[in-house]
Amino acid sequence: MRILSGVKATGRPHLGNYFGAMRQFLTLQEQGEGFYFVADLHALDLVRDAENLREYSLGVVLDYLALGLDPERSTLFVQSQVPEVSELMWILGSVCPMGQLQRAHGYKDAMAKGKEVDFGLFAYPVLMAADILLYRSNVVPVGKDQKQHLELTRDLAVKFNLTYCPDFDPDSGEGGALTLPEAHILEDVAVVPGTDGRKMSKSYDNTIQLFASDKQVKKSIMRVVTDSTPVEDPKDPDGCNVYGLLKLFLAEDELAEVAAQYRAGGTGYGAFKTRLLEAFHAQFDEARAKREELTQNLDYVHEVLRKGAQRARAVAQEVLGDVQKACGLR
Ligand code: ADP
Ligand code: TRP
Repeated sequence: MRILSGVKATGRPHLGNYFGAMRQFLTLQEQGEGFYFVADLHALDLVRDAENLREYSLGVVLDYLALGLDPERSTLFVQSQVPEVSELMWILGSVCPMGQLQRAHGYKDAMAKGKEVDFGLFAYPVLMAADILLYRSNVVPVGKDQKQHLELTRDLAVKFNLTYCPDFDPDSGEGGALTLPEAHILEDVAVVPGTDGRKMSKSYDNTIQLFASDKQVKKSIMRVVTDSTPVEDPKDPDGCNVYGLLKLFLAEDELAEVAAQYRAGGTGYGAFKTRLLEAFHAQFDEARAKREELTQNLDYVHEVLRKGAQRARAVAQEVLGDVQKACGLR
């Protein structure tokens, strides 16, 4: 079973990204052959500064290695280092109805907000389909927001196979040049609240970053918004952002203890924030130290990426070759 997913290189990861997405890559790597990549081509649409893009791309790789992605077990690579993906995108684009792209959420949202939309944003789902189909991926772990993209990916694979592969059987999905992938969507991931209580997101500037400096992490946690109940009064854990974040870290019995402290009164929000800060460090300090170490050893990281691209390219060339033959480019 091949598991594939991509992460856009658009910024530094925060608790929302970790609990909502990154964590599942690490658990899934035990269950199959993992292909994980940094979507730098997809990031071009948002990041318009060369130095930033390089930094973010490498950053994603460091993040994943630090968090425990094992390059011996999984193939870790940078999207643009496998140029075959751009050719497959073009081929898929040639069987992709415009209407389906016009209905895509990302494009529709941008249009609704009156943004200036470029072709890269419009074609984003086709490149994503190429990412997935180029490696004959079976399972694609993604957030709920990506469900529509996976549906398009399957549609394009079926359309290509029906058009060009006489042995393709749409019922079983067998006999085509392209393999139909399944989305693996984590339905039960709660939305991680940001420091202001809205969804944690870099667009709201309300994040707690996994790899910020100790000082910055402390500052972000201390600015989590709470109400102004006095220290001695009982407090409601369920409406509280600090408690919402503590939930991500603490075991059930520890959490029950904290909830009891809220309800009993006599403990201020400052103390709960300190608890959150301790929990953050207990969970992430090992990864934080590892990331620091990796930044001192970038030769190793580049070697991981070189090998990753090599492995990924071998698969990509084979699949693209089959596709080219099927449609008459070879
Ligand atoms: P951002 O909103 O900061 O720009 P992205 O859109 O790049 O984050 O999200 C990358 C992944 O992280 C997505 O799969 C998304 O589902 C997940 N994610 C982001 N923010 C949250 C959050 N607050 N709670 C849960 N999951 C999140
Ligand atoms: N679009 C995905 C996101 O925004 C990132 C991505 C690009 C991706 N290509 C992919 C995810 C292929 C899974 C498979 O999160």
